[in-house]
Amino acid sequence: MDNISQSSNSPATPPAESPKCVRVCQNRTCRKQGAAKVLAAFEAQPFPEVSVTGCGCLGQCGNGPIVLILPERVWYSRVHPSEVALLVEQHLRGG
Ligand code: FES
Repeated sequence: MDNISQSSNSPATPPAESPKCVRVCQNRTCRKQGAAKVLAAFEAQPFPEVSVTGCGCLGQCGNGPIVLILPERVWYSRVHPSEVALLVEQHLRGG
């Protein structure tokens, strides 16, 4: 799992009702790299204050599965399902 702190993309902003959102690309290239399992791993985490959704291509194909955390716009690439719990603990719960 790599943390990509900056990207040339400007994805959609999170919905106003949720201050923190996790977007997991579910487009074709990321799905071939296991994005569905990554999304399922996030959905299995008990943190109702954060919305988790699949999304379309985030423009980082080839580095997937790609995860984007909003509103901070922190990117994670090559995320493996086994790393999701650590990512949640360190980024979403630990700040
Ligand atoms: S297919 Fe996931 S970033 Fe493009």
